[in-house]
Amino acid sequence: MAQRWKNDLTDTDVTPEFAFLNRRQVIGGLAGVGIASFAGKASAEELEPNNWDEITGYNNFYEFGTGKEDPAARAHLMTTKPWSVKIDGMVNNPGEYDLQDIMSKMTIEKRIYRFRCVEAWSMVIPWNGFELADLLDLAGVQEGAKYVAFETLYRPEEMPGTRYPVLDWPYREGLRLDEARHPLTLMATGIYDKPIPNQNGAPIRLVVPWKYGFKSIKSIVRISLTSEEPPTSWNMSIPNEYGFYSNVNPNVDHPRWSQATERRIGGGLFARRQPTLMFNGYEEEVAPLYEGMDLSKFI
Ligand code: MTE
Repeated sequence: MAQRWKNDLTDTDVTPEFAFLNRRQVIGGLAGVGIASFAGKASAEELEPNNWDEITGYNNFYEFGTGKEDPAARAHLMTTKPWSVKIDGMVNNPGEYDLQDIMSKMTIEKRIYRFRCVEAWSMVIPWNGFELADLLDLAGVQEGAKYVAFETLYRPEEMPGTRYPVLDWPYREGLRLDEARHPLTLMATGIYDKPIPNQNGAPIRLVVPWKYGFKSIKSIVRISLTSEEPPTSWNMSIPNEYGFYSNVNPNVDHPRWSQATERRIGGGLFARRQPTLMFNGYEEEVAPLYEGMDLSKFI
């Protein structure tokens, strides 16, 4: 089993309702225990999750169009049952894994993560999911594997956005194996204790909270273990703007805009910009993965 990352929030902190995280409970009850390690430098208050409508109404899922409201309007076209994930490449147990079968073997947890999009907006999202490391253990990673590649479903008849050559379909992403095995790295299957909605990447998507949102690939149908760094959609499309790592880094601007601050979705007109944190606030947990690397070079 993977080294399990201690989750700080218990059932009582996660309700399917809107008033999901009780602020007093967080500040008065949990702050000292766990939230600090969870929240990194940010205060617990900042981890008040966005509401359901915000999380499911403002999305990026280019297979359904490039507008923020396109996924909510069109993603219902995608059929997600049955669903299986092909795991191949450098694994001992390659094959087509039925999702229900996978889920019956995994520990589904609740995790509230900050989510930072490369476009300088952010949300806080209460996910349900399991650690990717546990799935990798099920597949049995072979020695010599160094990277994990992911692919999204490509079904043009259900995905109107794929008629346009915005990206080279299918959507592809990748992680270094140690990033993939990090206990913060989640395979999400739910939000607010409900199955993950199509526009957010049903029925299973990746969540890597210290990286820009585009690394969190949706509606995954294939996971491959490789010895070489795999090609990724955004890097293939605009290589001078999007690198393989894509770690949240307020000190390195995107060539066309600053990454120093972000706009938290929600809060209406008075929504304030807030400083972006190194590794999206997860520096303590993940900085050791990049020791000795020049993060202005490995973007
Ligand atoms: N996955 C696929 N297959 N297609 C996409 O267009 N967009 C990415 C990522 N995963 C995308 C994707 C980007 S740019 C972001 S910011 C997040 O999904 C958005 O996730 P959310 O809509 O759940 O907030």
